This record gives sequence, C-alpha cells and structure tokens, in this order.
Amino acid sequence: MVQILLNHHAVFFISTIGENMSVFILLNCKTYDEGTGENAVKLAEACREIAESAGVEIAIAPQIPDIHRVARAVDIPVYAQHVDGAGPGSHTGKIYAKAIKEAGAVGSLVNHSERRLTLADIESSVAVLKENKMMSVICTNNVATTAAAAAFNPTYVAIEPPALIGSGVPVSKADPDIITDSVDAAARISPNVKVLCGAGISQGEDLKAAIELGAKGVLLASGIVKADDPKSALYELVSLI
Ligand code: G3P
Repeated sequence: MVQILLNHHAVFFISTIGENMSVFILLNCKTYDEGTGENAVKLAEACREIAESAGVEIAIAPQIPDIHRVARAVDIPVYAQHVDGAGPGSHTGKIYAKAIKEAGAVGSLVNHSERRLTLADIESSVAVLKENKMMSVICTNNVATTAAAAAFNPTYVAIEPPALIGSGVPVSKADPDIITDSVDAAARISPNVKVLCGAGISQGEDLKAAIELGAKGVLLASGIVKADDPKSALYELVSLI
C-alpha cells in the first residue's frame, strides 16, 4: 500500500527537485527503542528512500554505538547526537570527533536540550568538529542563545524551545517569532550560519511553515521515529515543499 502510494507520487516529486535541495531535515533517533540498533538502520533506509524521491536532504542522528552500522547501510548523511571537545590523548569516556568520523558520521549535534553543555564546552566541541572537517549543529533554546551559538560559526543553529519538544505542538505554529527572530539574530552575528528549527514538528504543514519563516530545515524526532509507519510519516512531511 505504501509502496503504491510512493510510486504514485513520484511524478510530483520529480517536478519539484531542485527547489527542495536546500531543505535539510535531520532526524534524531534519541534513545527511542524504535530508533535503536537495527531499528535505526530501518529508519535510515526510509530516510534515504524519501530523500531520493523528494530531492530533499534527509540526515539521521542515531545513537553513537549505532553510527557505524547505519553509515554502512545507507548513503545519507549520518550525525552523532553529541560530541565532546576532547582531542587525542588521555580523555577516558569522551566522544572524540575523529572517532565518530571514522565510524561514518559527517557531523554532530552539540548542546541538544537533552545533553546541555557549557558555553566553553560548546566552543570546544565545534572547534574539534571543524578541525576534523565535520558539520556542527548547535541546538539552542531561545533567541539569545541562538545569537551566542552563531558566534561560534557552526554549520547550523537549531532553535528548539524545550517545552515543545516531544509535545506534538509544532514550534512553527506555537512560537513562530522565535524562528524569525533566531534567523535575524544568526544573520546579524554570522551570515553564513543556517538556522533549523525543531520541537513538535511532524507534519508537512509544519515543515512548510518553518521554511516560510526563514529556517533552512528542521530537526525532529518523535513524530517520525515513533510513528506507526515512519516512511509514510516522512513522505507526508515532505509533501508540501
Ligand atoms: O532533536 C529533535 C528534538 O529535540 C525535537 O523532538 O520529538 O519534538 O520532534 P520532537
């Protein structure tokens, strides 16, 4: 049923390829069972299929022990959910950027709401990602921290009001100003930094609204990872762009 639906809409997707290529969707598996181990691979395969047919960049952030198995199975970008600012040397228990790169990651989230860091830690995590030529996505919780994060010149800043995370209430509807103000703040501080938004995003209209508000894409989790049929949920997510 899903397969037929996807094939049926392939023509629509082909006509919009190009416009969509700059839209970036980053799916965070968190520690949901539905996104752990082989389930992370299945999610990544769904991401790859929808990314290919819709001409949208979809990346996945599995748990760190799953990076290698996911990166070997799919050719979409794989991100870590966290990286430390540690370099080579005596740093037992730290997550080293070079190690996640060798496992197959192209970048990492930094300072996710569920894995907060100090400002100094954020700076060193981004620095070590840059040293290893990797992407950085600094998560922020308000406009002021977005401005501070932009000063580190990461690849992306992802604004996510913590109260809306996992709520099913999309930030693009509940607090559109936080997106536009974050886009303005980042542009003032560091014009090359792209802004994503996240929290409660799950529907095509949420993604469309985020793009219209100036975001380059979305960071999302539960709406897709915990969906009964993640591939259909992804298909619906990209259907309006
Ligand atoms: O990292 C994504 C995030 O925190 C948003 O979670 O479940 O509201 O999409 P969710």
